[in-house]
Amino acid sequence: MRVFRTQNELQLFNQELAQAGKELGFVATMGALHAGHMSLLHQAQAENQATIVSIFVNPTQFNNSEDLEKYPIRTDEDLALLKKEGATAVFLPSVSEVYGNKVEADDLDLIGLDKGMEGEFRPGHFPGVAAVVRRLFELIKPQRAYFGEKDFQQLLIVKHMAKVYQLPVEVIGCETERYASGLAMSSRNFRLSPDGLASADIIYKQMIWARENYQDYSPGDLKAAIVDNFENSDLELEYIEFADANSMKMVSDWEQHSAVRVFIAAYCEGVRLIDNIALY
Ligand code: PAJ
Repeated sequence: MRVFRTQNELQLFNQELAQAGKELGFVATMGALHAGHMSLLHQAQAENQATIVSIFVNPTQFNNSEDLEKYPIRTDEDLALLKKEGATAVFLPSVSEVYGNKVEADDLDLIGLDKGMEGEFRPGHFPGVAAVVRRLFELIKPQRAYFGEKDFQQLLIVKHMAKVYQLPVEVIGCETERYASGLAMSSRNFRLSPDGLASADIIYKQMIWARENYQDYSPGDLKAAIVDNFENSDLELEYIEFADANSMKMVSDWEQHSAVRVFIAAYCEGVRLIDNIALY
């Protein structure tokens, strides 16, 4: 497995691939890799002759400096896992390699995709994500890039960003990998105790309950019922929202939307967890 840290190395890698007629599939990550990240890599491997995974804890997408400081760093384990899984290359850039001297987000209109949920509770998060993914696309020049539905709002924003800047990359959404309990795999789970991991199951259970019962409730009443259910749990609910799967607009009437997802953010042992699934 090749390990690159600079733009120049990437440029040579790109030339090599072009000469060999190989297409490149890209998975962007912040490290602390788990089976969810690996599922993106496996899809990239199935659809491209070469694959590259970036590991970069992007400072511009953290609105909370404590969250950034506590973000788990496990580079040795990550590299061993990627080698075992057969990634062609890894990109491990420094902050200046990605951003130069200007460590800030671009002023891109996110057309309301960033209005609710993560955009509302983490101001500045999505401009930071859009900025870093744009730079990674420009440096790595992949034909295809794989993003998880686990971060559904992020997936729509990355697709929008690639379109606005006319970047020649196909952005592909991949299903969320879960433990048998239903809990979504996440780098943040590394910070939970066994008890925390067990109580975090409520997030998935409540989303499934919403999917099974939404037809009997208005969006407002369904939300209130789920808020109640969290009050009897070990987790502190930050938000529960129903949003249109295409526009991310909040849903106040099921009839007006053809595809809706439920989104939850909750704190478990002080660790912020997010998840979402399709209601219909
Ligand atoms: P990170 O949280 O490391 O996630 C990297 C990619 O893995 C994202 O596309 C995310 O949606 C996907 N992913 C995470 N958990 C998953 C799961 N359980 N199943 C399937 N896919 C999963 O998201 C980021 O990093 C950053 O915002 C990034 C895009 C790298 C920009 O800095």
